[in-house]
Amino acid sequence: MSDDQGSIFQEAIKNFLGPILPLLDDEAITEVMVNAYDEIWVEVKGKIRKTNAKFPDEDSLRAAVNNIAQSVGRRIDDEEPRLDARLPNGYRIHAVIPPCARKGTTIAIRKFSTVQFTFKDYVRIGAMTKDVAQFLDICMKLGKNVLVSGGTGSGKTTLLSVLCNRIPKGQRIIVIEDSSELQVEYEHVVFFETRMADEHGLGEVTIRDLLKSSLRLRPDRIIVGEVRGSEALELVQAMNTGHKGCLGTVHANNPADAIVRLEALAQGGDGQLSEKALRYQIAGAIDIVVQASRYPDGSRRVASIAELRGFDKDGTYDVVPIYNMGRLTKMPDGSLKGQIEPTGELPSFYYEIEDNQIPFPKTKFAA
Ligand SMILES: Nc1ncnc2c1ncn2[C@@H]1O[C@H](COP(=O)(O)OP(=O)(O)O)[C@@H](O)[C@H]1O
Ligand SMILES: [Mg+2]
Repeated sequence: MSDDQGSIFQEAIKNFLGPILPLLDDEAITEVMVNAYDEIWVEVKGKIRKTNAKFPDEDSLRAAVNNIAQSVGRRIDDEEPRLDARLPNGYRIHAVIPPCARKGTTIAIRKFSTVQFTFKDYVRIGAMTKDVAQFLDICMKLGKNVLVSGGTGSGKTTLLSVLCNRIPKGQRIIVIEDSSELQVEYEHVVFFETRMADEHGLGEVTIRDLLKSSLRLRPDRIIVGEVRGSEALELVQAMNTGHKGCLGTVHANNPADAIVRLEALAQGGDGQLSEKALRYQIAGAIDIVVQASRYPDGSRRVASIAELRGFDKDGTYDVVPIYNMGRLTKMPDGSLKGQIEPTGELPSFYYEIEDNQIPFPKTKFAA
């Protein structure tokens, strides 16, 4: 965002969102949820709590939402009672107004975290083990196609950033996102961001459009922040046509579901592929699925890592866990103690680890 845009927006936000400004400014808060003008919740460290903040009344809350809609060239009214917008500073806002929202105007503002993690941080806070960090690093070195799976707020994007930053030098990376969130420090990287349709429904540029462009821009690795539509098909095809080391995130509860989800999304595409052909493409495209999870103690960890090896005898995807979360014990302070452990399965590409003389002995995969 330019400084001009930034300051206009900051001014505007001060005017409309005064009562929740301190919450938006608080670095520790990742999400602000307005359930009604006098009921405002926040998320801090993965936990949700109610605040004392309130708007004077429903009218002023509604005015705030109207103003936000206007400032991004959209509207929210009887005809269009929902607003999905990206604010100039990157925040994502979703609002629903009555009568659809029964308690009154409801908003959630998702603040993108600017916290940049490294593998070292993950290991230090117990979100993954040293071996897992090293294994994922190896996957980046070897150019494996990796899907990061998880629920909303499970830490997918954060993990994707870390993985991106482990891509070996000398490649051309293209990053495609809905809202620019990924923090990729790399010498040769091109960032693309989608555009929503304007109030007349025109001018939309989708992830899929940008992925198609990317393929004509000589990428080595394509990174899709969040795969949630038919662009899944182009991504899978890119992965199958020599673009090694592509990455993306998908919304799913476990690695096997992530693959099924990807298939369902890809089916929404042009559909010139038979189901069988599509399934073969997916099986050939994805190498590794990393599951991110948010646990009841508020911690976010890598919950499992699985390899997609093709198909089982019965025709289902053969998703083989390489690492799974071990037993978790509740500590007196409420935290959950435990860690991710190898399952005893050796990755099918172990020979590549040996061939590249990467010091990661077979014994590390022993259960
Ligand atoms: N391993 C972690 N430990 C602690 N906080 C984390 C971890 N991973 C992510 N976070 C924080 O959790 C929030 C949500 O993470 P994000 O990566 O945006 O999730 P997702 O992309 O799955 O919605 C961010 O504020 C981020 O800084
Ligand atoms: Mg995300």
